[in-house]
Amino acid sequence: MRLVHHLAALATLLGTGSASVSVKYTGQAPTGYEVTFRYTNASAHKVQIAGGLLPFTDQFRTTPAFSAAYDPHDYRPGDFFVSGLNVNTTGNLGPQGNYTGFYMNNTGNGHWEWTAPFPSGTYSYAYIIDCDLGPRCATTEPGQVPGLTFYNDPENPPFQNDHLQFNHSIFQVPYDRQYQYDPALNLDFDFALPVPAGHQGKALAVNYSESVEASIVLIDSRETPANPTQASPGSTYPAKDIHDLALYLPPTYDSNCATPYPVLYLSHGGGGTAFDWPNLAKAFNIIDNLILSQWIPPTIVVCPAFYNLGCNDSGPIPDLMICVRENYLATLLPFIESTYRASSDPDQRAFAGLSLGSELTYEMYINATTHFGYFGHFSGARGPAASDTNTAGYISNISVAANPALASRGVFVGFGNFDIAFSDCRSLELALELAGVGFLSRFVPWGSHFWNTWQDTLWYFGRTALWKQRPFTVETARRGRVVY
Ligand SMILES: *[C@@H]1O[C@H](CO)[C@@H](O)[C@H](O)[C@H]1NC(C)=O
Ligand SMILES: *[C@@H]1O[C@H](CO)[C@@H](O)[C@H](O)[C@H]1NC(C)=O
Ligand SMILES: *[C@@H]1O[C@H](CO)[C@@H](O)[C@H](O)[C@H]1NC(C)=O
Ligand SMILES: *[C@@H]1O[C@H](CO)[C@@H](O)[C@H](O)[C@H]1NC(C)=O
Ligand SMILES: *[C@@H]1O[C@H](CO)[C@@H](O)[C@H](O)[C@H]1NC(C)=O
Ligand SMILES: *[C@@H]1O[C@H](CO)[C@@H](O)[C@H](O)[C@H]1NC(C)=O
Ligand SMILES: *[C@@H]1O[C@H](CO)[C@@H](O)[C@H](O)[C@H]1NC(C)=O
Ligand SMILES: *[C@@H]1O[C@H](CO)[C@@H](O)[C@H](O)[C@H]1NC(C)=O
Ligand SMILES: *[C@@H]1O[C@H](CO)[C@@H](O)[C@H](O)[C@H]1NC(C)=O
Repeated sequence: MRLVHHLAALATLLGTGSASVSVKYTGQAPTGYEVTFRYTNASAHKVQIAGGLLPFTDQFRTTPAFSAAYDPHDYRPGDFFVSGLNVNTTGNLGPQGNYTGFYMNNTGNGHWEWTAPFPSGTYSYAYIIDCDLGPRCATTEPGQVPGLTFYNDPENPPFQNDHLQFNHSIFQVPYDRQYQYDPALNLDFDFALPVPAGHQGKALAVNYSESVEASIVLIDSRETPANPTQASPGSTYPAKDIHDLALYLPPTYDSNCATPYPVLYLSHGGGGTAFDWPNLAKAFNIIDNLILSQWIPPTIVVCPAFYNLGCNDSGPIPDLMICVRENYLATLLPFIESTYRASSDPDQRAFAGLSLGSELTYEMYINATTHFGYFGHFSGARGPAASDTNTAGYISNISVAANPALASRGVFVGFGNFDIAFSDCRSLELALELAGVGFLSRFVPWGSHFWNTWQDTLWYFGRTALWKQRPFTVETARRGRVVY
């Protein structure tokens, strides 16, 4: 193993004076916090802030196809943001809607500025220069619009990101109960804020292959991207026969520890990368908080990238997730367990993922059942479902009779009210119920198919399900904190 760089601990991104996004405590309405963006480009005629920075809506005016699209200046307690709504969205969200990002003020000499109040949350943003077509500026997926360039914030670059896939910068705003409290919805995301120094785990970018020694770079969110990656057909990224992953080692990690650490495998979704979870969800901050609050014991977290996609294209619809499952069992788990002080006991292994990664989690659950003790399905299982109650194609009492271990796993299902995977997850829950499998459910009342939902499901997965006593019963989530 080779340490390439030693860098400071994860930057907090909060109020850092030199950064061109600053989060300032104002102690005033509407949120108690104000965010100022500054951007310099002398040749630009028009600059918008978009990317994952979305307008707000509220629970009384949102549907699976409609967002009220309030400007942040009009924030009221209980407002939240949604994305990934039904493609027939009629509200002001792109690409069909009319959301055009937020226009920055030209303050002269090539300087652009924009200030707005924001409530608690983790936000990604990117700058769009001279984009003349409103709706095409709105998409959160740069790949959907050929020629559209997202410029990240040069003072606050994403770490270990693939420029070709996701070019957003990230910031976090704290919760202020005085201005943000809403009796109907809890929208406090402080569980994604950095924990105090000394309690932070290590974030690492790791390359691996079956035969080559790993090389490691400490991930720092202010580091220039050094390790582009993307979901790939076979092992072609970041280089031929090289795979990559993002790794979290808990603050007390000791490679000589007498007891190996439990490992959570945490998958991205379709079109994602190994670095999505730590970038866009601040997942390693969430794990730090779960450990510090003693919801879970010190745990290793592995965020892999899909590999071996296309191992079988002979069928009409090759099951990509079967390919990824086979690859992870053959290469990823052995690599992790031989390189780190990671447990190989199935009871100490968990698999979770979002969206297509949740379909992968389901594939692991039904067909690698005894390799893991816990499964976290975040927004997905079998792909689009016929209806909320159609359980055809999901687990049944017949599956359980053939594979009794299915009933003794720690199963958790999380999804949002405005989630494109709503029916998929409802069907999964009904199927689990009918098959007699104990499971835990987190329904996110403001949740869409987006990162804030998956931050919430990761947090509650850790609090209620991960490493808890199995099989799950009706009492499991009521037992409260297990002190480790
Ligand atoms: C500045 O804006 C121009 C478009 O007017 C763009 O081509 C250029 O790449 C931008 N430069 C930077 C540093 O973002
Ligand atoms: C979108 O609307 C069109 C026309 O009404 C319909 O044919 C299509 O199925 C809808 N798509 C979705 C995903 O709802
Ligand atoms: C979006 O713009 C189109 C064209 O100007 C308009 O017909 C439509 O009503 C707008 N939608 C919303 C939700 O404002
Ligand atoms: C834009 O500039 C005007 C004039 O200085 C100011 O009143 C306004 O608050 C600015 N808007 C934002 C969003 O920063
Ligand atoms: C990403 O952002 C950087 C820095 O602003 C810029 O140089 C690069 O062209 C952007 N890439 C894409 C694909 O938008
Ligand atoms: C991983 O491999 C890629 C491609 O060879 C390289 O650019 C990157 O720096 C490597 N990352 C690490 C952490 O060694
Ligand atoms: C490949 O996929 C086809 C169609 O789904 C299936 O019939 C075949 O058994 C698969 N082959 C392998 C080796 O998995
Ligand atoms: C489980 O895996 C085996 C071997 O890879 C494969 O033959 C089988 O079709 C898989 N079953 C499911 C339900 O994916
Ligand atoms: C599954 O449940 C159905 C309906 O409750 C029942 O008729 C059937 O015998 C069960 N099958 C097994 C294998 O337990």
